[in-house]
Amino acid sequence: MPVITFANTKGGAGKTTAVLLLATELARMGYRVSVLDADPQHWITRWYETSEGLLGKRLNVVPYVTMNSIDRQLAEEKARADFVLIDLPGSRSSLLAKAVGHADYVLIPVQGSAMDAQGGANVIELLQYLEDKANIRIRHSVVLTRVNAMVTTRAMNAVKDLLAARRVHLLPTVIGERAAFRDIFGCGGTLYSMDPRRVSNLDKAQENAHAMAIDVLRQMAIPATASATVLRKVA
Ligand SMILES: Nc1ncnc2c1ncn2[C@@H]1O[C@H](COP(=O)(O)OP(=O)(O)O)[C@@H](O)[C@H]1O
Ligand SMILES: [Mg+2]
Repeated sequence: MPVITFANTKGGAGKTTAVLLLATELARMGYRVSVLDADPQHWITRWYETSEGLLGKRLNVVPYVTMNSIDRQLAEEKARADFVLIDLPGSRSSLLAKAVGHADYVLIPVQGSAMDAQGGANVIELLQYLEDKANIRIRHSVVLTRVNAMVTTRAMNAVKDLLAARRVHLLPTVIGERAAFRDIFGCGGTLYSMDPRRVSNLDKAQENAHAMAIDVLRQMAIPATASATVLRKVA
């Protein structure tokens, strides 16, 4: 089943947050999702320890994924999940090359505010290399993260123009800078188990995560209307 790798060689780009949002949203839509946690900070694994029961058996997290174990773990999870998501460390490594090489789709989180795109550019270069040298074409998109009110339309358009010049697809939905997306790691659970009286703009955060998941399904050519059951039958 499809593998989505989240990659940016820069730490703090928003990879782990984006993985968690997409994983929980796809599980909520009814898909079986497995996350391979290859991030040495193990945020997703720690989150899962406190949140496991909330999504029934639809979400599984595989901890301690390394260069030596990833092939076996990936094969196992692909056999049982509708989607496998890979959370990587923020560094250039052979694990990155492997996880990108195995992917059906690569999402490159880049912080919109800082326009700090170099870590993302490294991933785009790797994808270009795979295409030029090995004729392996992997669909990919940049997703802007931590976008806040300080990001001007002009700055945003500058990022868009840069990506367009390189012919890199930009996910239409941006991931906003939101308290809910930060707090979810601390308090565990999902955007739907959090207390709206304690977390500001929780409804907006839910809409944001849902819109991002719909964009990803569209990019992977999976009709947003297809239910998880339909997808399983097709596959
Ligand atoms: N959309 C967001 N809204 C608020 N905080 C965010 C958002 N994305 C990331 N962060 C915060 O930024 C820091 C780095 O994010 P993280 O997802 O761990 O990045 P990476 O996995 O690329 O290192 C964390 O403290 C996280 O809580
Ligand atoms: Mg991380």
